[in-house]
Amino acid sequence: MKTNPLLTLCLLMLGSWQLTEATAARSTQPTQINFTNTMPTEGNLVLGIFQDGVLGPQAQAMDQDSNGALSHAIKAADFEAKIKTTHLITAPMGSGFDQILLVGLGEQDKSKTNLQWQEIGGHAVQQAVKAFKTVPTITMDISELDNSIEINANVAYGAKLGSYYFDKYYTDEKRHKHQQRLTFITNQADQTSQYYTQELNPVADGIWFTRDIANEPANIIYPQSFVDQWRSHFKGIDHIKIHSLDEKDMLKQGMGAIYGVGRGSKNPPRMMIVEYMGGEKGQAPIVLVGKGITFDTGGISIKGSSNMWNMKFDMSGAAATIGTVYALAGREAKVNVVGIAALAENMPGGNAQRPGDVVTSMSGKTIQIRSTDAEGRLVLADGVYYGDITYNPALLVDIATLTGSASRALGKDYGALFTRHDELVAPFIEAGKQSGDEVWQLPLNDNHFKAIENNVADVMNSGPDAPGASAGAAFIGTFIRDTTPWVHLDVAGVSWSDKTTPVKASPGSTSFGVRLLNQYIKTHFEKE
Ligand code: BES
Ligand code: MN
Ligand code: ZN
Repeated sequence: MKTNPLLTLCLLMLGSWQLTEATAARSTQPTQINFTNTMPTEGNLVLGIFQDGVLGPQAQAMDQDSNGALSHAIKAADFEAKIKTTHLITAPMGSGFDQILLVGLGEQDKSKTNLQWQEIGGHAVQQAVKAFKTVPTITMDISELDNSIEINANVAYGAKLGSYYFDKYYTDEKRHKHQQRLTFITNQADQTSQYYTQELNPVADGIWFTRDIANEPANIIYPQSFVDQWRSHFKGIDHIKIHSLDEKDMLKQGMGAIYGVGRGSKNPPRMMIVEYMGGEKGQAPIVLVGKGITFDTGGISIKGSSNMWNMKFDMSGAAATIGTVYALAGREAKVNVVGIAALAENMPGGNAQRPGDVVTSMSGKTIQIRSTDAEGRLVLADGVYYGDITYNPALLVDIATLTGSASRALGKDYGALFTRHDELVAPFIEAGKQSGDEVWQLPLNDNHFKAIENNVADVMNSGPDAPGASAGAAFIGTFIRDTTPWVHLDVAGVSWSDKTTPVKASPGSTSFGVRLLNQYIKTHFEKE
């Protein structure tokens, strides 16, 4: 075989470094949201109507212009306008429009929550993508309601989340559903736009980037590229400080637990730390720590092959913590918050750690590795300890796709919450209900801590005599002072889903945690 001397030289120069992956992907920017006062006069339209049959002002005007043809067409369609239903009609002759997608708004009362309006927006835009491919101007036609600014902004926010599609790898243009822009008509366009841009769009973008980074395959997102991608998203955002520890820093700081997980991979581990200090100087920050396993093969305790591809999502917790910091910084929240992503790729190989190995964590506590597949708690051991002692947090939350056990217990509807601080349970459940990222408590008691005690080292990374999710929680808690208010979120069941919901169209990352933590922090830490 003839070898190309130039190629050989390049390969020699690269040594063991990874070649950058070539991909055919095109990049997609988050959908732009616009508000306008001007009603279009032609094309297609998405139009909200209430159940009581009384048309909003824009529909009324159209109805008059068409001599009652619009209200006639709606009646003929027999559309009840129940919430989260739509109906496509041919626009009345002479209206100038082609087709109108009617969107049910349910009853015209004031009881709908922001979350319900978000879901109306998301559902409507998904139906509009199906009907028109390029979504036309949308109006909920509610300018007569008292809080129409907040409502329209929430509809737009839900519509943006609901029309996230991970379609960058499709080379067939016909399969693309991504919308460059969504335009909403309201007679308070400027105020709505201002409110939306300040309060909601940064959260939508944080969710967008979280989904993007979680959905990317593991040949694209590995520890260093995770750091690089987030760094580029944060460009231009104020009060942000980012640093990243590499494997040498880890060894220097004694982070033997995360180092041990990463050592089997050619893609070395990283710890990414993003500080957003938007609150008072010196005020104790909230610290969020995420499990960032960019791919979990199980290591030497290797997983079965059938669903292993899905383990590219095993960095969803880390993505959500940095996504939350992005959301808070983007809306200039008056809080101090630190996001820590504990990043490693869990691979088998000649240099991988073995079951039975003993590693020393940054805390000084020693750990016997029982299963190299219980790796999330290992990277978190060093992540939460570092966060706890460096920042003395007012609240520490870790979020991790930690156990199949949590996912079997709670399914797809709730993330699992564990804490030693019972007063945190109710407010977290409430923040979950308000935001749509719901959580439910699972137990954490002294027996769970006992179950991870070990006769070779201080602790071991699995507790065969305790329920799996609780043993995982106890292990992480071992590395946090019990005086630090701490919540552990096991999101193994809820971080990705094949199901379409109004706020998530395509299969894949749900960005679970961003909406929850944004809501919790808004309610409990942001002073008016
Ligand atoms: N990343 C997995 C947990 C997981 C499993 C997430 C399925 C989503 C779907 C985690 O690292 C893991 O392998 N956990 C083991 C722990 C066990 C070895 C103690 C598990 O849950 O089986
Ligand atoms: Mn694992
Ligand atoms: Zn894992």
